[in-house]
Amino acid sequence: MTSTTFDIKNTPSQQLHQLLVSAVAPRPIGLVSTISEDGVPNLAPFSFFGLFSLTPPVVVFSPSRRVRDCSTKHTLDNLEVVPECVVHLVEEAQAWQMNLCANEYDRDISEFEKAGFTKQAAKEVKPSLVAECRIKMECRVRDIVALGDTGGAGSLVICDIVHLHIADKLLDRDGRFNLFCYKPIARLGGDWYTRLEPVGLFELPKPARQLGIGMDRLPAFITERELFTKNQLAKLASVATVPQVDETFRDERLDAIRTFMKNNEPEKRIAQYAAELLEEGRIKKAWQVLLTLTPINAAP
Ligand SMILES: Cc1cc2nc3c(=O)[nH]c(=O)nc-3n(C[C@H](O)[C@H](O)[C@H](O)COP(=O)(O)O)c2cc1C
Repeated sequence: MTSTTFDIKNTPSQQLHQLLVSAVAPRPIGLVSTISEDGVPNLAPFSFFGLFSLTPPVVVFSPSRRVRDCSTKHTLDNLEVVPECVVHLVEEAQAWQMNLCANEYDRDISEFEKAGFTKQAAKEVKPSLVAECRIKMECRVRDIVALGDTGGAGSLVICDIVHLHIADKLLDRDGRFNLFCYKPIARLGGDWYTRLEPVGLFELPKPARQLGIGMDRLPAFITERELFTKNQLAKLASVATVPQVDETFRDERLDAIRTFMKNNEPEKRIAQYAAELLEEGRIKKAWQVLLTLTPINAAP
């Protein structure tokens, strides 16, 4: 693989910005509600935003100084005096309203009015909730860490979540989050966004549940075939122990390959079949198919 490397000190900041926001993507969007000392509500979206701790529950977002004139954002100014906010997750239904909140309205203008969002009283903090958002996190600011004082420098706003609101439509009967009803949008580079679609979902079991054998313990008869991608080999290496041959394992396609391809590289076809199974996530079956290729089993 050839790569272009960028020495941060010598890369124009505009180019670096474009590269990084495109690469570190998709980013969820936190729509942050704050209030000024004089009681003027403010709403602004931040995609330099994430969940960073569960106990205590902490979210962080980062309002940057404007590159143009190094000025700070109203959100940060408000939080310096009233260190409370409500962070909302943005779904597709609020995309355009959220975008209106990114306009640079004057300090005495409420983005609730401009974007047509409905105010709802919070339980524990002064800033209002956005009624339309289905996930709302009332927060108290734990710390603000300024990362610089030049244009583009972010300030990490580290927030303790003190109250969480989740719309019932996003919860199942047991109070668990129903991912299939959730429609968040996320920011990419430039003016591009992406939406969460059921077709884009896939499961990857947590490694903590079982210690995978690792690539280094895959048998040579598998690794020697240069047919598998590293990702496919990683799937095989995620099992807790090297599987044993299952004597009861029968498979019509395998039989067909053995019968009809016997003069035409059957072993290669079988490995290709295993690769297909791995692509479908059928790891157990792929192993059994491959085990028919072990020196003992591969004998005609
Ligand atoms: C989707 C989206 C994400 C944004 N993320 C950030 C961000 O992470 N940091 C930032 O400083 N500005 C970000 N902006 C720009 C701010 O929302 C914009 O500067 C806004 O006017 C700030 O409002 P305020 O001055 O009322 O705080 C983002 C804009 C959009 C549309």
